[in-house]
Amino acid sequence: MVHAWKRLLALGGRRRWMIPTFLGVALVVAAVVVLLVVESPSSTAQSTTVEPIAPQPPAQPVRFSHKVHVEQVGIACLYCHSNAPRGQVASIPSVEKCIACHAVIEGQTPQARAEIAKIRDAWERGVPLQWEKKTDLPDFVYFSHQPHIKAGVSCVECHGQVGSTDMPPRNFNMTMGFCLDCHRQQAPEKVAKLVDCATCHK
Ligand code: HEC
Ligand code: HEC
Ligand code: HEC
Ligand code: HEC
Ligand code: HEC
Repeated sequence: MVHAWKRLLALGGRRRWMIPTFLGVALVVAAVVVLLVVESPSSTAQSTTVEPIAPQPPAQPVRFSHKVHVEQVGIACLYCHSNAPRGQVASIPSVEKCIACHAVIEGQTPQARAEIAKIRDAWERGVPLQWEKKTDLPDFVYFSHQPHIKAGVSCVECHGQVGSTDMPPRNFNMTMGFCLDCHRQQAPEKVAKLVDCATCHK
């Protein structure tokens, strides 16, 4: 940097115009930096949607624990996410499915009872629980659970050990590379179709 300045100041005659230009460029750069810094609250807010894994799970209407239901109670994934083998979405269970058990299961700790009371309240008022969706591909990507479940791909291969978590993280690392890595490993006669852009971008 010092060298650059010295060379610039040492420039004689017709090339002195470069000094104001250099200062001008420096000012513009400084202004852009200031703008970026001032803009940063909104740009960080936007970038959270791009981050593959956010540290905090979103607030859900009920503190639902997969670990309690899958590991301790032993309920199968497909009992609750019953649409996965036949449709695009796996689906989040309705209040009705929760109340089938929680009409009688009240919970053992005060905290569990308070959470289960929210399910009963929603059921009595006839309103759905508004779960926030965390695994969400952009709209320009076509995905369906059906062919994967049919081909025997397990939930864990894409979602990780959700059944052992109290709260699944906000997002999973479902990038295009993640999809393609597995598609390339399929039976050779199927690979061409599985890596074809139109398969996932209709
Ligand atoms: C090949 C990867 C893959 C497999 C296998 C898979 N999922 Fe998914 N799952 C996804 C993707 C991708 C999304 C997001 C879809 C979207 O946003 O369009 C998703 C979304 C979901 C959702 C959110 C609600 C919805 O349906 O969009 C649930 C719940 C879910 N999966 C459960 C399951 C369960 C249970 C299994 C096993 C029976 C399973 N998934 C197997 C990739 C997979
Ligand atoms: C097949 C029965 C069954 C279904 C279906 C079911 N649960 Fe549970 N749930 C249980 C059992 C058993 C417990 C443990 C309760 C206990 O130890 O007293 C439990 C515990 C809970 C707890 C307290 C967890 C804790 O922190 O201890 C909450 C909250 C809860 N369930 C929410 C739900 C929601 C929401 C649904 C629907 C999406 C649901 N449950 C569906 C059986 C079920
Ligand atoms: C008792 C019902 C129940 C069972 C059993 C269950 N889930 Fe869930 N699952 C839910 C509910 C309710 C939510 C929404 C709340 C949340 O995201 O924590 C959910 C959310 C999810 C999500 C995140 C969806 C999103 O928002 O992107 C995935 C992935 C998932 N479940 C996979 C599984 C897998 C895999 C299993 C089996 C190992 C399983 N679930 C078993 C009820 C259940
Ligand atoms: C762990 C392996 C695996 C991952 C990860 C995976 N897939 Fe697949 N995918 C498969 C298999 C296996 C099939 C079924 C191939 C067959 O037998 O026809 C399939 C089929 C499909 C099909 C249907 C293709 C057709 O024949 O019409 C689509 C669409 C698809 N995958 C999209 C995705 C997308 C999008 C992702 C990433 C979010 C993804 N897949 C991630 C293994 C995977
Ligand atoms: C197996 C499914 C699959 C196939 C095949 C596939 N894509 Fe994608 N593509 C995705 C997914 C999933 C995303 C979203 C990735 C993300 O959000 O990180 C994506 C994102 C993109 C994007 C946006 C990138 C970005 O940074 O936002 C472009 C452009 C794209 N794909 C082009 C292509 C082209 C061109 C092909 C064919 C050579 C192709 N894709 C084949 C699944 C696929």
